[in-house]
Amino acid sequence: MHRKIIIKKKINNFNKVINVSGDKSISIRWVLFSSLATGISIAKNLLLSEDVIAAINAIKKLGIKVVSEKNRIKIFGKGIDGYKYKKNLTINAQNSGTLGRLLMGLLINTPYPIKLIGDKSLSKRDFKRVSDPLSKFGAKFNLKNNKNLPLTIFGTKELKPIHFSEKKGSAQVKSSIIFAGIRTENCTTIKAKKSRNHTETMCEYLKLPVKVKVKRNYDKITIKKVKTIKRLNYNIPSDISSAAFFIVLTALLENSQLIIKSVNINPSRIGIITILRKMGVKINFQNKKNYKGEEIADIKVKSSKLIKPINCPIKLNASAIDEFLVIFLLAAKANGVSYFKNLEELNKKESPRLIWGSKILNLMGVKNITTKNSIKIFGNPDLKINKKIIIKDYLKDHRVFMTSVIAALSFGGEWSITNPESVKTSFPNFLKIINELKK
Ligand code: S3P
Repeated sequence: MHRKIIIKKKINNFNKVINVSGDKSISIRWVLFSSLATGISIAKNLLLSEDVIAAINAIKKLGIKVVSEKNRIKIFGKGIDGYKYKKNLTINAQNSGTLGRLLMGLLINTPYPIKLIGDKSLSKRDFKRVSDPLSKFGAKFNLKNNKNLPLTIFGTKELKPIHFSEKKGSAQVKSSIIFAGIRTENCTTIKAKKSRNHTETMCEYLKLPVKVKVKRNYDKITIKKVKTIKRLNYNIPSDISSAAFFIVLTALLENSQLIIKSVNINPSRIGIITILRKMGVKINFQNKKNYKGEEIADIKVKSSKLIKPINCPIKLNASAIDEFLVIFLLAAKANGVSYFKNLEELNKKESPRLIWGSKILNLMGVKNITTKNSIKIFGNPDLKINKKIIIKDYLKDHRVFMTSVIAALSFGGEWSITNPESVKTSFPNFLKIINELKK
């Protein structure tokens, strides 16, 4: 029997201040960089979700000591060449594409083969996008069906630099090459379509020889071999991808207001804010500051009397890639037809999310026309749901679960949603925050 939650009632209006959990992308990168640093690195507000715990378990398997104290995590790095490689090592990336793909770059010079495995969802995802460029460094990869997990990494000490053009706008592909490049003599270069830049920002803060030239439509990144990495104390800001659920919930309600404290508003992550503002939602950034190269602010959002439809510019796709499911809910209530296109990457996430977005809208009675890479959503400003809706078999994709909960709380109906434990991959206290908003 699967666990499930039942929601039968819309949430009442609220006026609250909340904190959401630490940023997942930054948390995973902090764990990996700290494992290569010389000395003890300390993080506060590290996201302790299953994806990040999988990253901690991965570096422990590589001989790195990690200590968890009351509200901080300490990593005892032994330097860039400090991993203890053992024979027959298997590392489990569980649900995390970011962890799996970044590790492939990081382990490019392993002296013994390392097997990389993941859960059912991760095992369906494409790892060829990373093994292809990484093979050019001279390492070899053996993948199930030529593209999936389990895979085996056959590292080499004779690494050759590569010159790669990254065209998908994937931060994971870009970052895996950066991690391999910092182990390689001479100069590796990437011409990278714009995507989140936390890896580059951390490299810059750590003063590593990784340089970025920002061009209009792409970044030119040059990477040289790194000798040492200094320890990295970090107070992890909150995750805009987690804040997104509450931003949309507030926008969909009446007479409500929400402040979400200390959220990472890196320009490469705030596509959702630009899109929602274009749709007429009032959002402000307050107390803006810069922290170790990342921008942080409190986000203030108000409910929206009129939601405008959007023809979403494709240049916003990468910076909103994890938020489209919940953005579709806003489009469902817009005063007209919204159009989102060139979204083929969305079907390559923890579940095929474009298909799931369409399924959820269909169950809600919202007309949509969906192709393999686009969706047209016919909004209805008076949308109310009066029927039973069952959400199941969605590969435990955390964002499908959370989007369904937000839909139930905003539009009504009687929802039964299986596998509430799926939130543990990115946002373990999601339901606790919903309860705070109900008080
Ligand atoms: C991430 C990059 C994105 C994003 C994922 C996290 C990262 O994936 O969807 O949730 O931390 O680098 P892609 O690189 O596949 O676009």
